[in-house]
Amino acid sequence: MTQMVTWEIRDGIAVLTLDNPPVNALGQDLRAGIWQAIEAAGADPAVQAIVICAEGRNFSAGADIREFGKPPVAPSLPDLCNLIEASAKPVIAAIQGKALGGGFELALAAHARIAQRTAKVGLPEVTLGILPGAGGTQRTPRLIGAEPALRLILGGKPLRARDAQAMGLLDGVVEDGLVDAAIALARNMVADGKPVVPTRARRDGFHEPAAYEAAIAAARTAQDKVPANPDLPANSRIIDCIEAALLLPFDAGLTFERSAFEDCLGSIGARGLRHAFLAERRTAKIPELGTQPRAIAHVGVIGGGLMGAGIIVALMGAGLAVSLVERDHDSLVAGLERIADIHENAVAKGRMTAEARDEQWARLKGSADITTLAEVDLVIEAASEDEAIKTALFRQLDSVVKPGAILATNTSYLDINTLAAATSRPGDVVGLHFFSPAHIMRLMEVVVGAQTAPDVVTAGFALAARLGKVAVRAGVCDGFIGNRILTAYRTAADFTLEDGASPAQIDAAMRAFGMALGPYQVSDMAGLDISWARRKRLAPTRDPKARYVSIADRLCEAGRFGQKSGAGYYSYPDGRVGKEDPATQAIIEAERAAKGITPRSFTAEEIQRRCLAAMANEGARILQEGIALRPSDLDVVLLSGYGYPRWRGGPMQSADEIGLLELKNTLLAYAKETPEFWRPADLLGELIKNGRHFADLNET
Ligand code: 3HC
Repeated sequence: MTQMVTWEIRDGIAVLTLDNPPVNALGQDLRAGIWQAIEAAGADPAVQAIVICAEGRNFSAGADIREFGKPPVAPSLPDLCNLIEASAKPVIAAIQGKALGGGFELALAAHARIAQRTAKVGLPEVTLGILPGAGGTQRTPRLIGAEPALRLILGGKPLRARDAQAMGLLDGVVEDGLVDAAIALARNMVADGKPVVPTRARRDGFHEPAAYEAAIAAARTAQDKVPANPDLPANSRIIDCIEAALLLPFDAGLTFERSAFEDCLGSIGARGLRHAFLAERRTAKIPELGTQPRAIAHVGVIGGGLMGAGIIVALMGAGLAVSLVERDHDSLVAGLERIADIHENAVAKGRMTAEARDEQWARLKGSADITTLAEVDLVIEAASEDEAIKTALFRQLDSVVKPGAILATNTSYLDINTLAAATSRPGDVVGLHFFSPAHIMRLMEVVVGAQTAPDVVTAGFALAARLGKVAVRAGVCDGFIGNRILTAYRTAADFTLEDGASPAQIDAAMRAFGMALGPYQVSDMAGLDISWARRKRLAPTRDPKARYVSIADRLCEAGRFGQKSGAGYYSYPDGRVGKEDPATQAIIEAERAAKGITPRSFTAEEIQRRCLAAMANEGARILQEGIALRPSDLDVVLLSGYGYPRWRGGPMQSADEIGLLELKNTLLAYAKETPEFWRPADLLGELIKNGRHFADLNET
């Protein structure tokens, strides 16, 4: 027996303890260990029943997802579940923490389940683009029927122990003394003397076949309302499997489930979602890891605009004390009102209690005097995106805040090193780049300057974790990671626009790709004036020979700043729904005519290929410049900050799916038109030469 499973006999009951840190994932060693222990306990005359419990915070996080895509090694999880279920001696699962996916399927195969009150159980496979593949779709509906089983498996959300008990998934819930309670239950079952009833033989969920079939039909109708995605088949296959549970004998149902599981596992969507899961956990692996972060209890925020207010709401929600500083009394009042509006809205929608609002509000102070920030542990500067204003603020902060306080800027583009140089403490300066609305968006780029101290970097990551955000480490460059890739994406879209496509066509193509919104819808929402100001700032340094699309400038000159001015790329006669506008089309056509461009047509697939090639190529440049640590960090930025479809895993994962040689050839073909933009990054050639993919760089 491997060391991952230990067992002892207590009062005639074999207590098997799973011990595979950090989350008892059911990898091959653990499966083999459980298999041997179950067989040994079954054969031992001193054992009358078996309790399976676990060491650590969680019972089990399920199948080891790092094994997916590799050749299967026996014993398989479905076989292990069947072995447990077939035991003549009662098997009881004792669940603490989380029992998820295969971990819960293992428990479902046991003859009884008992959990600690704080435990959660669930089948979240759908969030990884797959379905429960170890009997979950067959055993769950046998216990609780189709409707709750569909809710659990399609929803993917874990249930609290008491709720799971009420549904019939658990046989008992205890406050504490979990293993003793499981042993007591085992003893009762032995004393009862009745043969155990395997879950496969249970019929509790089949009592009302008509209701069962109605639930299946309702799920299919709901499914049909969502556009089908052949790259993400899990949802429809889950419904098929739950239906099969009623229609097929158990073993045939298991075979059906297995083949559906394997179909899903091989889908682009499953690879993308699995990549996203692992990528999000990898971002925290930074060179500074292990350095004790500087403590943060009190934060000063400069600027109560849209961004500053969102940041403050996020900070207050995480239990921090916050001091807002604005440039004058009126701006301060406006900032406080913005914060109050966000809170009122949350209370009105039932997302926050009035008590929580009052408690949070009590931790907020406001002032028009920057010297009130003398005692804060961290300052987040969220003033206007203007280098002179920000540099002056940093100089002032240097003379105000206490030694050791962290000076952070929320700049989207400016050079952190320039701001750091305005202070006498460049080691304390860092970029904390939030995304708007900052109390909702999950992403935070932690921008590390040339001299940023390691404990300032780890403090940025610790703060992100406290705010429930995912932090990604970025180096200094214009736009860091996200906005740099966004710029490349927009440039590719603009070339396509100027060459013949319409904003609506490009937006529709990118929505069909899976983006939450098309690039021109985003521009209209964000406001065209902000990027116009940036383009004007960069104009003196722009390569005059580089292709430059002036359509956005012409729109701005015509006062079309997007939704807020009633017109941008689209017009907004009814408020927020954009309509194609002949005036925009006229501007585009005039630009084409001025440049002598004969418009041509583009398919949606071509538009998508161009935009993706531009994003992945810019990503490769960012990597070769050392701005990001690994390709999967870029993916996390695009997934959590820019609406890239999670099931595609991010642009670098998409590039790996396409194949890097194919990507390079595509870029070379485009480079014939506009060489300076489309030239393939050197890194692409390097990877191709060595037969490697972006994914290979994630593990280094
Ligand atoms: N397989 C492999 N590794 C896993 C894992 C899994 N199922 N679940 C978590 N891990 C790893 C993480 O990658 C992370 O690794 P790292 O330390 O190298 O970064 C480590 O365990 C800790 O994970 P978290 O940072 O997520 O720890 P938390 O304490 O925040 O959360 C958790 C714990 C709630 C269990 C969370 O990890 C989780 O939700 N895990 C995935 C659950 C899941 O989706 N299970 C279904 C798996 S598929 C399946 O079972 C198929 C079956 O039907 C056949």
